[in-house]
Amino acid sequence: MRRKLAAGNWKMNGTSAALAELKALAEANATAAVDILICPPATLLHRAAEVAGDSAVSVGGQDCHSATSGAHTGDLSVDMLKDAGAESVILGHSERRTDHGEGDAVVLAKAESAIAAGLTAVVCLGESLEQREAGETLDVIGAQLQGSVPDGCTGETLVVAYEPIWAIGTGKVPTLEQIGEVHAFLRGRLVERFGEENGSAVRLLYGGSVKPANASDIFAVEDVDGALVGGASLKAADFAPIIAALSDS
Ligand code: 13P
Repeated sequence: MRRKLAAGNWKMNGTSAALAELKALAEANATAAVDILICPPATLLHRAAEVAGDSAVSVGGQDCHSATSGAHTGDLSVDMLKDAGAESVILGHSERRTDHGEGDAVVLAKAESAIAAGLTAVVCLGESLEQREAGETLDVIGAQLQGSVPDGCTGETLVVAYEPIWAIGTGKVPTLEQIGEVHAFLRGRLVERFGEENGSAVRLLYGGSVKPANASDIFAVEDVDGALVGGASLKAADFAPIIAALSDS
């Protein structure tokens, strides 16, 4: 069935010294029962890919432009990410949606570009606290899924990460029931849209304050195929128990 995925999003953290954490992670996971992905800042991507080598750790980008080249100062194309060693790219993270005003159409165009280049698109979705409290969570998530995920996706081309905005970096985590409700909803929508085989093969990650202490409980929830981890992915010693919990789940 679906291979589990422990993904780390380093966000805007890490200079050369952080490669030691990746080295430790790669050495501890020459092979692994789950897939492991680290998305470092773009400045480290190439060296990170070299450090990860042929271990079970792969590396990915945190964003890309939808165009393949051109006059887009400061942006990176999917070919550049691939050339640096990326196999995946995180798209539509709430921090990009908020900080850079990225709407679903922009995320969709980026995901299309990434998939066309052979990268796996890790598309992030999630509601705000206001939306959660107003009972709009599934409507918001459904609209984001429809609007920012391309047609024709498979388990190879797409990973979906459910990241409630209010749980990111806050130490607050939804109840296991709330996580289960969203993941079951997402699975249903994916199967509806991509068919039984492809919709069932897409991995669904939970993200938002995943820590060694809560990982096992979260991974026991149906249709949680792994996690997208921020803060606790920066240190190999913190990420290792999360990987172990996923392997045991
Ligand atoms: P934290 O794990 O730091 O809450 O971040 C989650 C996240 O945004 C991963 O993309």
